[in-house]
Amino acid sequence: MTKKRILSGMRPTGPLHIGHLVGALDNWVKLQDEYECFFMVADWHAAMSEYASPADLKENLINNVIDWLACGISPRKTTVFIQSHVKEHLELYMVFSLITPLGWLERCPTYKEQLREVTNRDLSTYGFLGYPVLQAADILLYKAEVVPVGEDQLPHLELTREISRRFNSLYKKDIFPKPEALLTKAPRILGLDGRKMSKSYNNFISICEEPKNIRLKVQSMFTDPSRIKFSDPGHPQTCNVHSYYAVFAPEREKEISGLCRQSKIGCTDCKKELAEILIKFLEPIQKKRNELLRNKKQIFSILEQGSKRASAVASKTITEVKGLLNLA
Ligand code: TRP
Ligand code: SF4
Repeated sequence: MTKKRILSGMRPTGPLHIGHLVGALDNWVKLQDEYECFFMVADWHAAMSEYASPADLKENLINNVIDWLACGISPRKTTVFIQSHVKEHLELYMVFSLITPLGWLERCPTYKEQLREVTNRDLSTYGFLGYPVLQAADILLYKAEVVPVGEDQLPHLELTREISRRFNSLYKKDIFPKPEALLTKAPRILGLDGRKMSKSYNNFISICEEPKNIRLKVQSMFTDPSRIKFSDPGHPQTCNVHSYYAVFAPEREKEISGLCRQSKIGCTDCKKELAEILIKFLEPIQKKRNELLRNKKQIFSILEQGSKRASAVASKTITEVKGLLNLA
């Protein structure tokens, strides 16, 4: 039986952190055996919001790829590539721009939210409105049927299906699938301050964070606010530190809850122990990362191979699409 095809992407807007690791990457790693996977660094999508200060784009991009590989993405099983290396993404983006009604994009909840919430960049551009159109092109270029993403991306998947439906019906040919999101039950960890873990809040622990920084950062974590003195019984269910135990040391979680409720462990010690758990957890990944860093040439050759494999599929789709539009 042929494997179903997956495409997913991440924008290289900063270092990858432990939230990406447990929320998405671990899942990607597992999917590699069951599906034919295409994992892409969405640099054009990053440029749509970072165009005014793109200084870090290239460095983020290569570091993200190194993180993927260190976490277990295997170029033997999976096609790993950079969006901008495969020009066909832009061709299909253009074709989809022709057929996507403006209203669909203006109504898109993620678009409205970003315009409202992002204040340090000007996102009221022609390009940014087309963000989901490019995402639809990313997915449909490979005729991927399954797209592992977080819940925040559901509106983009809905639009991808709408665009697919519209294309197929306009040109009376069933060439594109209706891709479905693959939502995982992946744990969601919050940032050190209890808000969403995000680069812009600087409340994350990155995958390549040094042990001494991990210790400092974990000590700075917010805990149960009602526990002021050691003798106050804690409420682990409302403590962010405890939720990290649940993800990174599930075997220790119950004990910690008990000790916390009975005031038998102080927050400082509880966090000290968590820091060591995280350091151990990241150790093999960081070791692999350092090995990869010593051989950057190899990374570039993996990416070159990836874009070759991606282009082979992409150019077929574009030939079909151009044929239907009577473009040369
Ligand atoms: N918009 C996605 C995000 O911010 C990134 C992305 C770009 C993507 N192209 C994609 C995800 C195609 C899935 C499929 O997370
Ligand atoms: Fe949170 Fe641990 Fe303090 Fe309990 S002891 S409140 S789980 S940090």
